Amino acid sequence: MGQKAKELVTRAGLDVDALIKDLNSAYCDEWLAYYQYWIGAKVAEGKMFHLIAQELAEHASEELEHAEKLAKRIIELGGTPAISPDLWLKDSTCGYLSPENPDAMALLKQNIAGERCAIEVYHKLLEDVAGKDLVTEHLVREILEDELEHEQDLEDLHRSCDMKENACNTKAKACRK
Ligand SMILES: [Fe+2]
Ligand SMILES: [Fe+2]
Repeated sequence: MGQKAKELVTRAGLDVDALIKDLNSAYCDEWLAYYQYWIGAKVAEGKMFHLIAQELAEHASEELEHAEKLAKRIIELGGTPAISPDLWLKDSTCGYLSPENPDAMALLKQNIAGERCAIEVYHKLLEDVAGKDLVTEHLVREILEDELEHEQDLEDLHRSCDMKENACNTKAKACRK
């Protein structure tokens, strides 16, 4: 724990315990998102599954990075990141969508829903800390930007696959970037 880290948050008028609870909930979301993407990339099948699986695997590693950043901030504030997978579902806001249907297009839809939930979570968190806890604000804004990009990436991929099977490639993305 960082004494000053906690002091600054309290001085800004925030409830440190409540903030740690919210960060921990987001941390649980990230582990579930990580696994949902990771396992989705493994089981994906159907048209263009290679490309979609590649995108899912990329997102998985970014969700894990988010979990790492959140864990660091939770510990800095004197909290403990969820120490058991039992807590992931219990304390999560966005939950977990099991890829019962391995069709790559169905997986895309599931993960788009997950991203939309994550965007709401981080947007709310950002509103809570903005102008008060500048360190958490920076962290949450960074993650929010990633989640917005994730949603757009998946939507683009879904649209291209939907419009024309052959259009489902990474070229469209490459041009946009
Ligand atoms: Fe994330
Ligand atoms: Fe994401």
